[in-house]
Amino acid sequence: MTRRFKWGLLGTGAIARTFATALRECNTGELAAIGSRSMEAAERFARDFPATVHGTYEELLANPEVDVVYISTPHPMHAEWAIKAAEAGKHVLCEKPLTLNHAEAVAVIDAARANDVFLMEAFMYRCHPQTERLIELIREGAIGEVRLIQATFSFLAGWNLESRLLNNRLGGGGILDVGCYCTSMARLIAGAVSGQPFLDPDELKAVGQIGGESRVDEFAVASLKFPNGVLAQLATGVRLSLESFVRISGEDGNILVPSPWVIGRQPGEAKLIVTRDGRSEEIVINETRSPFAIEADTVGHYIHAKQSPKMSWADSLGNMKTLDRWREQIGLIYDSEKMAELPNQ
Ligand SMILES: NC(=O)c1ccc[n+]([C@@H]2O[C@H](COP(=O)([O-])OP(=O)(O)OC[C@H]3O[C@@H](n4cnc5c(N)ncnc54)[C@H](OP(=O)(O)O)[C@@H]3O)[C@@H](O)[C@H]2O)c1
Repeated sequence: MTRRFKWGLLGTGAIARTFATALRECNTGELAAIGSRSMEAAERFARDFPATVHGTYEELLANPEVDVVYISTPHPMHAEWAIKAAEAGKHVLCEKPLTLNHAEAVAVIDAARANDVFLMEAFMYRCHPQTERLIELIREGAIGEVRLIQATFSFLAGWNLESRLLNNRLGGGGILDVGCYCTSMARLIAGAVSGQPFLDPDELKAVGQIGGESRVDEFAVASLKFPNGVLAQLATGVRLSLESFVRISGEDGNILVPSPWVIGRQPGEAKLIVTRDGRSEEIVINETRSPFAIEADTVGHYIHAKQSPKMSWADSLGNMKTLDRWREQIGLIYDSEKMAELPNQ
């Protein structure tokens, strides 16, 4: 019988609620504990999701019942708490982006390795069978030689400079919040073209609009060229209402992914549209479980291997490096990354 891993949630925000709901349909694990910076928030959360409550993150990590920790703080706190969780001997599922930048990601992965724990960056779309089928189609040559990947993920956040999305100190902006999905998808598909789990671009050119008040990238685009000749166009933003999609164009046709990221649960919503010779065919993926439940079961499945092939450590490092390059091109350095802000300077 599969062991039911005990999950501890670190942070009680919006996505923690989605994840806790999904844990109810997880086959390999269950919610055991909730950790918040305040007991009040932990207790409020536990009214909907009954579990042991902790009024500090440290207490959650000290709970011997907890096997695996889900980190869902704003991005700048991911590194600190992923490292502390690993040092406490807990397996870790950390929300995307794994960290604020590549250097922090190296430190988190070093901590997972040193403490012999599982670690995965929480890209739930990577764990979904729709993405698996997409990769099979690319590998089978369904649209011939792949030439261009277009990926967009954006939304129009309400104008609140205190919210994590529009706040420099909380790692706001589109590139890290949702551009990371587009980057990871382009690298995944470019890799599939060459029979690799992923590829990193050798060229990246980008522009972006950094808000005068928010001081984060409110919308941004990037063009990538991979070593195998595949090109990608990425568009993202937290102040941009562009439809989210992925389209892959090859020599013989194209594949449209209408719902690439938060994959729908209604029958027929998970689908790929393949167009060849002017004719379109819909490939429906029969999966109605929450993508977050599938993600949690991916953790349960690979926990003893310490990393998952759905989003390996090397893949996360390559993604963070690419996001660093995108931000560098548009001139976005977070205050916390500036020398003057670093301790002991
Ligand atoms: N995979 C997905 O589909 C998905 C979707 C949305 C977000 N995310 C990721 O999940 C993370 C959290 O996003 P969210 O939308 O859930 O954010 P949110 O609603 O703002 O919640 C963040 C939580 O982090 C904790 N926190 C710790 N330090 C904080 C600080 N200094 N300021 C504010 N909150 C702090 C708080 O919990 P306590 O008060 O309990 O400590 C807070 O409720 C982000 O990294 C984001 O990229 C992923």
